[in-house]
Amino acid sequence: MSEPILETTAYLNKRIAHMPQKAVILGTGLGNLAEAIIDKEEIPYGEIPHFPVSTVEGHSGKLIVGKLGEQYILAMQGRFHYYEGYSMKEVTYPIRVMRELGIKTLFVSNASGGTNPTFRVGDLMIITDHINFFPEHPLRGKNIDYGPRFPDMTHAYDQDLIRQAKEIAEQKKIHVREGVYLGTQGPTFETPAEYRMYRILGADAVGMSTVPEVIVANHCGIKVFGISVITNIGIDSQTEEVSHLEVQEAADKAQPKMTEIIRELINRV
Ligand code: HPA
Repeated sequence: MSEPILETTAYLNKRIAHMPQKAVILGTGLGNLAEAIIDKEEIPYGEIPHFPVSTVEGHSGKLIVGKLGEQYILAMQGRFHYYEGYSMKEVTYPIRVMRELGIKTLFVSNASGGTNPTFRVGDLMIITDHINFFPEHPLRGKNIDYGPRFPDMTHAYDQDLIRQAKEIAEQKKIHVREGVYLGTQGPTFETPAEYRMYRILGADAVGMSTVPEVIVANHCGIKVFGISVITNIGIDSQTEEVSHLEVQEAADKAQPKMTEIIRELINRV
């Protein structure tokens, strides 16, 4: 293991009294979950040796460790996007640290543009699979022996977690979609032609995060559940101009539903 990861892990092991086995990346649409965490310790990224620091609007950077319901959880408030200029190693650094800390399951959320013609703004989409459209692969370079050189990606999103999430949504009468998330580098939103292309390629939604972290989590043997809020529509004849503010507003509206599903899922697992 690399020195920095070991130093980061040693620091966090010292600061965290009850080390959780579950982690959540509080992407767009899940910010509120942080408020439901009690008995918590907050560790700003700036205090953690070798941790990158988040810069994007609307994402503050800290680790939160505490209890969600009966369970301890490690939450990342603020993630590192490739478009911010971080390398893939930096974007996925926290996942490797999670692995060293003993995290077994990772929950991720994001915002995305819907390319599936049946989708509407505000829909939640359980991510069943992804397409990696980032220009650099997060596992490029010498293989870290957390996992094989050529990792299998057949079940990048854990089948059982997907099943349970659907069950929870049904019980709570929350309408959910399922689909393929295509991850791009951003920071531009797509042109109508690009949305069309991604649809033809098999995407139901397109966004600027998640795929690198999910690949590395799989390589590390961490199970993943992912959910996306459709904040805008990139569908032929319906594509409209989009801004970060609109994305944020649509995500805020869908937030209670998303939080409820993830909260219950975390409690069950
Ligand atoms: N494209 C890429 N990322 C996004 C979008 C989109 O349309 N909406 C929210 N994040």
